[in-house]
Amino acid sequence: MTQSIRRLAGQDVPAIGLGLMGMSEFYGAHDDGESLATLHAAFELGVRHLDTADTYGAGHNEQLLGRFVAELKPAQRAELLIATKFGINRPPGTYERHIDNSPAYIRAACEDSLKRLGVEQLGLYYVHRRDPVRPIEAVMDSLVALKAEGKIAAIGLSEVSAQTLRRAHAVHPVAALQSEYSLWERAAEQEMLPTCAALGVAFVAYSPLGRALLSATMPATQDLAPDDFRRMLPRFNGAAGAHNRALVARLAELAAAWGMPPSQLALAWILNKHPHVLVIPGTRRQTHLGSNWSAGQIDLNAVQVDALDALFAAGAVAGERYTEGGWVGIESVRS
Ligand SMILES: NC(=O)c1ccc[n+]([C@@H]2O[C@H](COP(=O)([O-])OP(=O)(O)OC[C@H]3O[C@@H](n4cnc5c(N)ncnc54)[C@H](OP(=O)(O)O)[C@@H]3O)[C@@H](O)[C@H]2O)c1
Repeated sequence: MTQSIRRLAGQDVPAIGLGLMGMSEFYGAHDDGESLATLHAAFELGVRHLDTADTYGAGHNEQLLGRFVAELKPAQRAELLIATKFGINRPPGTYERHIDNSPAYIRAACEDSLKRLGVEQLGLYYVHRRDPVRPIEAVMDSLVALKAEGKIAAIGLSEVSAQTLRRAHAVHPVAALQSEYSLWERAAEQEMLPTCAALGVAFVAYSPLGRALLSATMPATQDLAPDDFRRMLPRFNGAAGAHNRALVARLAELAAAWGMPPSQLALAWILNKHPHVLVIPGTRRQTHLGSNWSAGQIDLNAVQVDALDALFAAGAVAGERYTEGGWVGIESVRS
């Protein structure tokens, strides 16, 4: 099987993209030199869809991506689909957030992202979190104005409800909906995945590796770096964490029987199940990058998909995916 290609924001891109978040914060130490080398290796492999946000590392993530973009030739740059996001306002180094979707904030955030990235247009611009006090129609109006000015090429929404997506799509076509989706986070199957399919909106699955847990190689939670965000998340801790690791051990047995690492099986499950879904596994490392990329070439049969569906059936995973602070601005169904 060749690399699976999917439509996103008016471009045909490989279904396997790259999430840059961990290159700035959340999953322990990061090294800009290593991250830049990984970005170049990703381009060499064929990765074209790169996902960042203004809030990751308080601008650091976009600046890093800007450095990479500047190192490319113009023709290479033109092949990239850079997706970024606005709306989460966090004092640097903190997790607590304030959501801002005001017209002035959207415009200023877009200008700042363009500058940090060193590009004239953002390929895909997401509302990272929706501010419930602002009608989504008004938020779309601000984004449509930026599109008319050529500052953004396409509009995306993240972690909104199916109802919000429909309302937004009625104002202007929404190119992409980004939400957490993986073997261990399947709430999007209830409403969002069918809604995206019905509207022709691409679904971009974030944290498709369950923030590393589904690789079955993640260190014990208590051994993570002191500032690693997973130390706070209910799903990685206590009895829930132990329960979920036992589940992943069974995933690892299936993966071994089928001759691939669990991380590849987790990504291949998503791509084989849904023809309109793209994934953005995050990694700082070239070794993981190459392995994740290969998952885009894996064909699973119906028996394999069914076995994984059954292993991770509703109720199989223990614990919430976010802390209460992390749920701020999220409208998606809670699993
Ligand atoms: N819209 C939103 O609200 C939102 C929220 C979260 C994330 N995102 C986006 O989604 C992207 C991906 O999500 P994510 O980074 O949170 O989670 P993820 O892709 O599920 O997992 C990333 C973690 O897995 C590890 N990893 C990656 N490939 C691996 C492999 N083959 N074997 C073992 N470990 C592996 C990474 O560590 P190494 O770096 O060591 O490889 C990192 O710790 C982010 O980068 C970000 O762009 C969006």
